[in-house]
Amino acid sequence: MQKLLTTESLIRHHYLEEKDAPRVEWLWDEIRRLKRERNVFLPAHNYQVPEIQAVADFVGDSFELAVKSREIESDYVVFCGVRFMAEGCYTLKPETPVYVPSLRALCSLAEVDEADVAERKEWLRSLGRDFSTMTYVNTYAPVKALSDACCTSSNAPKIAAGLGKPDILFVPDQNLAYQVALKTGRMYLPPPERNEFHPKEYWERVEPLIREGEKQGLQGNVFAWEGACHVHHEMTEQDILRIRAEDPEAVVVVHGEVKPSLQKLADAVLSTSQMIKYVDAHPEKQRFAILTECGLVVRMELEHPEKQFYKSCRLCQYMKANDLENVYETLRDRPADRLVTVEESVREGAARAMSRMIELARA
Ligand code: 13P
Ligand code: SF4
Repeated sequence: MQKLLTTESLIRHHYLEEKDAPRVEWLWDEIRRLKRERNVFLPAHNYQVPEIQAVADFVGDSFELAVKSREIESDYVVFCGVRFMAEGCYTLKPETPVYVPSLRALCSLAEVDEADVAERKEWLRSLGRDFSTMTYVNTYAPVKALSDACCTSSNAPKIAAGLGKPDILFVPDQNLAYQVALKTGRMYLPPPERNEFHPKEYWERVEPLIREGEKQGLQGNVFAWEGACHVHHEMTEQDILRIRAEDPEAVVVVHGEVKPSLQKLADAVLSTSQMIKYVDAHPEKQRFAILTECGLVVRMELEHPEKQFYKSCRLCQYMKANDLENVYETLRDRPADRLVTVEESVREGAARAMSRMIELARA
């Protein structure tokens, strides 16, 4: 991939203006020099801008980045993704300092209060439910530490199946929770409204669904949390129906963070790296609609100039908070406020949940 990322190809695809090319090339040279001289590892998520992917040592989805973190042997890391990913890297490899290029690279989905998760677990215990708590990696360490295992969009149903309990409390993405229920034969229990968890009312709402699942002989239930990614949750059924009407031959691929109604309309529900592999694995298909953060399609367009891609054109402002300038500054200066740390007792709990995910995903 990286050999395709030249200033010429980026200008050709309208990702870069000609006037900016000399600065980009200078930054690429400096970043490569600093990485070499200081023995730095620079991982990047698939949503990072192509100029960053061009100088990254590894590009992947959240699961691949977590697995890679355990293998790092560099003196420090500049993590080009969002904060929970950098924190996950530190969690799994605490001997290595991890820096983020921008303090604004956060994630709307990850803002969950661990006290609320503890309360929900206590409520399920008080009802006598036999459950595991699964936490999407798009969370911070205190929430991960409260869970039995983490998961990502590439492995959530497999982790749920591996945990072996009938019920799952799935935190925080309500849409990925649906995918888990569907793929593992459990009843999907829609979340309470945000900041409106009232145990009695909520139980009255979900109990009939639980009874319905029992009648259908389902394995158990997925209690969905009330979180969603603002980028994916705003995508609509119309986005798919319009493409289907205009171009019935186009293959529609969506991320697990889109609403259940969109997941039902799609040809495949995949993680970001799985989407890239899916397109590679279907040379006979010419047109794809890729419903996820728009930046992912950049890479596909560069790798498959013969294919046509319909884009969602929704960007994650958090992923885009990183740019070549702040990556360079971070490598050069290692600003103290960009160092990611987690209190050791919390880190241990989060590391246990992340390691369990890696083991179950590989089983
Ligand atoms: P992936 O694990 O599929 O890369 O997704 C991460 C993410 O933040 C999606 O919005
Ligand atoms: Fe978070 Fe959504 Fe951005 Fe992914 S796209 S990092 S889930 S806000």
